[in-house]
Amino acid sequence: VTDRMQCWYFNKRPREGLDADTFVKREVPVPDIGEGEVLIRMVLMTMDATNRVWLTEWDSYIDPVNVGDPMRAFTLGEVVQSKHPDFAVGTLVSGLGPWAEYYVSDGSGLQAFPHFEGVDLVDAFGILTVAGPTALVGLREIAKLKAGETIAITAAAGAVGALTGQIAKIMGARVIGVAGSDAKCAWLTDELGFDAAINYKTEDVVASLRKHAPDGLDVHFENVGGEMLDAGLTVMKNYGRVVICGLIATYGAAGEVPGPYMFRNMIMRRLTMRGFVILDYLDQYPELWTQLLQWIKAGRLKYRLNLLEGLDRAPEALGLLFSGGNDGKVMVRVGADPA
Ligand SMILES: NC(=O)c1ccc[n+]([C@@H]2O[C@H](COP(=O)([O-])OP(=O)(O)OC[C@H]3O[C@@H](n4cnc5c(N)ncnc54)[C@H](OP(=O)(O)O)[C@@H]3O)[C@@H](O)[C@H]2O)c1
Repeated sequence: VTDRMQCWYFNKRPREGLDADTFVKREVPVPDIGEGEVLIRMVLMTMDATNRVWLTEWDSYIDPVNVGDPMRAFTLGEVVQSKHPDFAVGTLVSGLGPWAEYYVSDGSGLQAFPHFEGVDLVDAFGILTVAGPTALVGLREIAKLKAGETIAITAAAGAVGALTGQIAKIMGARVIGVAGSDAKCAWLTDELGFDAAINYKTEDVVASLRKHAPDGLDVHFENVGGEMLDAGLTVMKNYGRVVICGLIATYGAAGEVPGPYMFRNMIMRRLTMRGFVILDYLDQYPELWTQLLQWIKAGRLKYRLNLLEGLDRAPEALGLLFSGGNDGKVMVRVGADPA
């Protein structure tokens, strides 16, 4: 353990997208631990769209990060000092933590991260912490997707979207993905087995959804919001289900966000709309992991990791999610894997 470390702080509330001065990096002393505490060496952080929500003053599902505080992420680290009975030195732990090389925890919200036989640590952390469980819970519990149904997924080439589409295929559905480039669309149809993909930057999404789902959608799985949500609402079947997993297009909104213009289809098509927060399903994680790992090992679930090296690159990494510049699950490597 060194004496000093790097840490990123929330410096200035962004007006819309992230700004160059949204975060500031400082060198600070590595904190000492007290009774009942552990010192954790950061190994990996995932970058999640919801991190942008934490920078707002919205009444949200979690406390915000306040200006002046260290920025926060879902993290994986190694206990390097311990005065806590439950976490011995050498234990791998996951939980919310600061964008920093080290941090102190009293153990609340901290979980021992299991060893997954046959899966690299970076893959396990990247796919099994947030994205994989979100896709599986979203389809099984929220969409209640059934074989033979047609589903559309937005931000389909992203971490959650790509897994959602492949699991929907495994569940026997017809799957249409919406993504922001021809290369992303080709990946969905040529490598991941999506039945169709729509480039929302070059195509009329409603017209293309109608073409690929002439009878309408049973399920619309929303990761973006705004025009995408309206497109899905426009082409729903009677009794369709709209899953609100994410609204990334609106997380940086400067003002009030308008509701969907096609909201009337909630009545006209007798729809159900339901949102969810994956943190509410932590008790199901062991079962979700077993299922996801079985598919991964059988080659039925593919994914890409967009891993950036070094804590310095954390702001850049987070920004990729909002520009669409990411190719797979965005992660930052802060330190080496434990020996
Ligand atoms: N409910 C939950 O518990 C839960 C858990 C995890 C994630 N989520 C949500 O799932 C969504 C995906 O998250 P992720 O971590 O997997 O990120 P991701 O999909 O890997 O990356 C975000 C993608 O969103 C698309 N995007 C960004 N801004 C957009 C805009 N203005 N209009 C259209 N598309 C835009 C971009 O793809 P293109 O290149 O295709 O534009 C970008 O690559 C987010 O909305 C997130 O909040 C929800």
